[in-house]
Amino acid sequence: MLRAMNEANSDVWTGGLTNDLSQVLLSEAQIAARVGQLGRQLAADYVEKDPLLVGILSGSFPFIADLVRAMNLALEVDFMAVSSYGDRTSSSGVVRILKDLNTSIAGRHVIVVEDIVDTGLTLHYLYENLRTRQPASLKVCALLDKREARKREVEVDYVGFHCPNEFVVGYGLDYRGRYRNLPFIGVLRPEVYRKAE
Ligand code: PRP
Repeated sequence: MLRAMNEANSDVWTGGLTNDLSQVLLSEAQIAARVGQLGRQLAADYVEKDPLLVGILSGSFPFIADLVRAMNLALEVDFMAVSSYGDRTSSSGVVRILKDLNTSIAGRHVIVVEDIVDTGLTLHYLYENLRTRQPASLKVCALLDKREARKREVEVDYVGFHCPNEFVVGYGLDYRGRYRNLPFIGVLRPEVYRKAE
């Protein structure tokens, strides 16, 4: 698998970061194809609605960048940064807003863009927080949905892929701030995060 991964991604991705992965879960091509589909679906659903896409930093940055470029309609983008995990590998349930929106969402059609919904704690908090600001509509688009890990029931309206209950990194997803720049999504070897615990 690793050999296939390295061949598929040329010299740039041999060794180094990829040695820490046990497998490729989603290739660059698979991600691009699905993000294109999601973008076209959203564009069709939001015709003449001037949607505001809210990217949740930091993990969503590659996803939202690709998603909006697949949406052929007028839209706006804003960002929020929240902290839930710190440097740990499991959720504490504590969510803090580190950076709020620059714009009011009252009366706007809002789409929250997440890289992954895991326990659902972050999204539950965000959804309730944004709902009080009286948007015209509030939907959620997540690239990965790790349903098995849910602690809070949350609705994800647009899902890229269902995600197995593994520690995944790449395409914005990190472990201790690293691996976000991988153009594909892979499974982190347990020994990488276990040795740091
Ligand atoms: C990740 C992800 C979601 C959240 C999902 O962010 O981007 O915001 O965790 O997990 P949950 O469903 O268990 O709440 P993280 O806090 O790791 O920050 P990051 O995006 O900066 O990596």
